[in-house]
Amino acid sequence: LMQAGRATPLDLSSISGPAIVKQLMHLATFSDDPNPAVTRLIFTPNDMEARRYVRVLMRDAGLSIREDPMGNIYGRMAGSSSTGAVVTGSHTDAIPLAGAYDGTLGVIGAIAALKALRAAGFRPERPIDTLMFTSEEPTRFGLGCIGSRGMVGALSAKTLDAKVDINGTTFKDASARVGSGGSSHEAILAGTRVPDGAVSAFVELHIEQGPLLEKEGLQLGIVSAIAAPAAFRVSLSGDGGHAGALLMPDRNDAGLAAAEVALAVEEATLAAGAIDAVGTTGYVQLGPNTMNSVPREARLEIDIRDIDAARRDATVEKVLKSIERIAEKRKVRHRVEVINQDPPVTCSQKVTAAATEAAEELGASHKSLVSRAYHDTLFMSQIAPAGMIFIPCRNGWSHRPDEFASAENIEMGVKALALTLAKLAGS
Ligand code: GLV
Ligand code: MN
Ligand code: MN
Ligand code: MN
Repeated sequence: LMQAGRATPLDLSSISGPAIVKQLMHLATFSDDPNPAVTRLIFTPNDMEARRYVRVLMRDAGLSIREDPMGNIYGRMAGSSSTGAVVTGSHTDAIPLAGAYDGTLGVIGAIAALKALRAAGFRPERPIDTLMFTSEEPTRFGLGCIGSRGMVGALSAKTLDAKVDINGTTFKDASARVGSGGSSHEAILAGTRVPDGAVSAFVELHIEQGPLLEKEGLQLGIVSAIAAPAAFRVSLSGDGGHAGALLMPDRNDAGLAAAEVALAVEEATLAAGAIDAVGTTGYVQLGPNTMNSVPREARLEIDIRDIDAARRDATVEKVLKSIERIAEKRKVRHRVEVINQDPPVTCSQKVTAAATEAAEELGASHKSLVSRAYHDTLFMSQIAPAGMIFIPCRNGWSHRPDEFASAENIEMGVKALALTLAKLAGS
């Protein structure tokens, strides 16, 4: 492989798919559920084990390690100039009963890529950082991409102060063992914020989490855009009562209102008339949630996504109007809390061009595609040109224990990442 501006080819033959799979399988053992399922919520003992292991791999790759106040872990390969690092990374936290590849590939694969660049004698002009982001998944605190939001200034101390998990543990207490946990969230966020110009490009390697690459027999996906979620929590309350004694005309059933809201989400999303518009009511909790009691309370969490911000926001508006109408019709009280409403992203031409060139030089079949899942790249794109490289995963499955990517595809993905980083960092 001839790298632009280099006289000697870049030898990436030290990148071994099976060796990377072995590391992924070791990481998977840090799980609250038995493998192949992986459950690794942020700041739990298994997350701490994963962090320890990532540090071991970074040290072994000769990277210098730094942890920011939010616990985002950086492993740096020095550059001949010190400005505008090229950054790559992903997450190791996993939702309940997830698989071994989501996020982890972009952490372990990135470390393997840098180790191989070093072995090839590559000396970058710009420094290259690998990153393990804190808390990409929203499971524990109801908000995704907490680490990357903090890095780009898209998170307030007030938001963090209010975060509590289902056991009543605050974010502050839960995060006490990472970064400068225990300090004020103001101080933590100030120290986490990436200075202007410190990142010149960001690229994340990830499994596709969709079926297109596998279906079309392609090795790599170059991500052109990332859909973004709007998430909100809806509380509906009626008066409840005895399931036998309270007659139908006298009810204001919060459960039925919730059912109508869920259907309204589907209706509004379909009415957007775009394949990229998706809406999900993935969480419903009724109270008192017992057979012979008319539901008094209902709590829903709704996730609406699109790659077109205006269309996504119009869908959200429609749903909010429907909630008003349903609440009025069913005489229930309602409260809506917006958890986040993030802008979708068009990936940077600079990064997609570098990744496409890398794919070409590797002789890998590839196509441009959209990411329907969100990723830390969504936030990193607020401070730097950003993009993603996807590899196929079996049946497009993700967020389930049988999530799988082959050693061959992993190897090609890591090679493509290494070459992309080399191009972006220069030599
Ligand atoms: C993150 O995993 C998402 O929900 O896209
Ligand atoms: Mn995920
Ligand atoms: Mn992920
Ligand atoms: Mn994700």
